[in-house]
Amino acid sequence: MEKEQLAALAKTAMQTAYAPYSGYTVGAALLCDDGTVYTGCNVENASYGATNCAERTAFFKAISEGKRKFRAIAICGGKHGVVSDEFTPCGVCRQVMREFCDDNFPIYVVSKTDISAYCLGELLPNSFGPSQIHKNT
Ligand code: THU
Repeated sequence: MEKEQLAALAKTAMQTAYAPYSGYTVGAALLCDDGTVYTGCNVENASYGATNCAERTAFFKAISEGKRKFRAIAICGGKHGVVSDEFTPCGVCRQVMREFCDDNFPIYVVSKTDISAYCLGELLPNSFGPSQIHKNT
């Protein structure tokens, strides 16, 4: 699947965001190793802290369906369903990605006009991951 297709799925997912507090809607499309795609949106909460980001929604949907290997994710966001300038995933989402993906995992950030490519290692350098726990038995 091309990054443009993944970007289009992220834009569609953004339309179902539940963001009555911030008005900032986010969509994500996660490509699994087997070629399937799981989309996600942000789901806000009146207690604010219980909000779930779009990226984690996509990951948790996929993980709960038995997927463990991932090829790439595309994300986009903006006020009230309109894609705005690019942003990169929040720290919590980066750490959730790190659990299942290595430093080369591509993160496509979709803006009005462009798709920028990042990799997880540059957004979360010197990270703490599963191998740290497994090597200290
Ligand atoms: N948000 C995401 O869904 N992903 C991110 O990476 C950054 C922030 C959401 C959370 C909240 O609903 C809104 O954007 C404003 O922070």
